[in-house]
Parts: sequence; structure tokens; C-alpha cells
Amino acid sequence: MAYNLLKGKRGIITGALDENSIAWKVAEKAHEEGASIVLTNAPIAMRMGEIKKLAEKINAEIIPADATNIEELTNLFSKSQEVLGGKIDFLLHSIGMSVNIRKNIPYPELNYDYFQKGIDVSALSLHKMLSVAYKTDAMNEGGSIVALTYMAAQRTYPFYTDMADIKAMLESIARSFGYHFGLNKKVRVNTVSQSPTKTTAGTGIKGFGDFYDFANAIAPLGNASAEDCANYCLTLFSDLTRMVTMQNLFHDGGYSTTGVSMEVMTKLGVE
Ligand SMILES: NC(=O)c1ccc[n+]([C@@H]2O[C@H](COP(=O)([O-])OP(=O)(O)OC[C@H]3O[C@@H](n4cnc5c(N)ncnc54)[C@H](O)[C@@H]3O)[C@@H](O)[C@H]2O)c1
Repeated sequence: MAYNLLKGKRGIITGALDENSIAWKVAEKAHEEGASIVLTNAPIAMRMGEIKKLAEKINAEIIPADATNIEELTNLFSKSQEVLGGKIDFLLHSIGMSVNIRKNIPYPELNYDYFQKGIDVSALSLHKMLSVAYKTDAMNEGGSIVALTYMAAQRTYPFYTDMADIKAMLESIARSFGYHFGLNKKVRVNTVSQSPTKTTAGTGIKGFGDFYDFANAIAPLGNASAEDCANYCLTLFSDLTRMVTMQNLFHDGGYSTTGVSMEVMTKLGVE
């Protein structure tokens, strides 16, 4: 059911790779809620062609941009305003990639070139996007920026390796930039810390399936799906959350504040 929450709003959505992507669901739902959208992804993701299906479905233009490249990001923001007919009301940063995770390299043995690549793609890209938007005054007053993160920024998950440190940086950038964006542009910046979700980025993590089940058994509400995450993002893009900024918001069915659940105790054989 749609509520017209984003009627008349213009948004840029990064990271829709295929229909499992969290960004894909956000784009579909933002469209249902009345927003006009520009989709963007790295040129290499474009070649897979899936994003074109989404663009057709929601009547969105695609503007390719490597999120590590300032020139391409500058083009993204200026073209998006042309295409959408005005300043941007919301932006979703839904970008994550770690070569160390892809190659199964354990934390004590991290490759530093891969680490730096991961920082650039998954954390600095947020700073670069925000910096371009800030300097070119691309965001509308009352606008909202959301980046997706994971709780490994606060607690240790050994298999999440360098992405744990990278997500901590991402969350810090959202807070730090949130101050400047709030004060000078009246724009919100928040991170949403999402449950394990079965996407390309998620399932690339070693042992993801077991971990997904573990988190599901801990969280009183179970794991939050990509659709649930999209719904939450929409509330943050809407005018209903105008005073929420510089927060890391857990969207995880209660996982982050549950010590242990009876389901896990029972699995361990505790009566
Ligand atoms: N899946 C999970 O379990 C989970 C949990 C918490 C947070 N997140 C976060 O959600 C976000 C979205 O991931 P997802 O799970 O939907 O997976 P996904 O693989 O569908 O999306 C990741 C996206 O990042 C894009 N990307 C990679 N390098 C890029 C670059 N240089 N420039 C522009 N885009 C680039 C990819 O093309 C892809 O579309 C990520 O930040 C991820 O860390 C995921």
C-alpha cells in the first residue's frame, strides 16, 4: 500500500545491481510513493544489464558513475538535477565492496591495497558524494541522505574482516558531514544498520548462510528483509523524520539489543 510519502520528491539511488539488492527495493518503493528517481551504479555493474529492467519499470533514467570518481559524481549530481527538474530531495548510498572478503583473506593477514580499495569504494565514496552535493548545493532544504551499514562497526564479527573498520568509518563520515549539512543546508544524514540480507554483497561473506540463521534466531522479530529496509529508508526520506540526523539507526528486528534468545539456548541444549 502506498501513502504518497515521497510525492513530488526527487531522489538519486545508488547500488541497484539486481533484484536482490536493497537499493532495488528502495527504488521500487520510492517510485510507488510518488518520487522521481535517477538510478546510478558503477559502469561495470551497468554491463550486467539488470538495472535497465528496473529503470524501465519505474521510469527512471540511469546515470553511470563510479562512486570513487569525483568527476563522475559531479556529472551525476548535475545531470540528475537536469533530468529530474530541480534539486535533489533524497540520496541513498548503498555501496559496499571488499576484495579482502571476496578473496577470503583473514583479518590478521589483510592485503593493504585491497583494504584501501575497500575504504575508497565503501566509505570515502560517501564523503565524496556528500562533498560534491554540498559544494554544488545540489540538495534541497529538508532533504535526506541515508547510507547503509552493518553492526560490525560496533561489535566484532571475525568474517566481516576489513568491512568492519570501513563501516565504522562510513558511520563516522555520516555523523561528521551530518553536522555541516544540517547547519548549513538543513539536510539530514543518517546510516541504517541493516540485518544480514541475502544479496550479492551479503552472500559473498564466508559463512553468511549460517550467520544469517544465527542472527534470525537471536532477533525477537527475526531478520529484517530488504523490503523492510526499503520501507524504513522511505520514512527517513519522507518529511515525517525531519529532525532525525547524524544517527546510526539499527534496523535489525531487535538483534542489536538482545544478549541471547531462548531459541539459541535451546539449540545449545540448555533446558
Ligand atoms: N546484504 C547484507 O547482509 C547487508 C547488511 C547490512 C548492510 N549492507 C549494506 O547494504 C549496501 C548494499 O548492499 P547489498 O547487500 O544490497 O548488495 P549489492 O551487492 O546488491 O549492492 C552493492 C552495490 O555496490 C555497487 N558498487 C560497488 N562498487 C561500486 C563503485 N565503485 N561505484 C558505484 N557503485 C559500486 C555494486 O555495483 C552494487 O550495486 C552495502 O553498503 C552493504 O554493505 C548489506
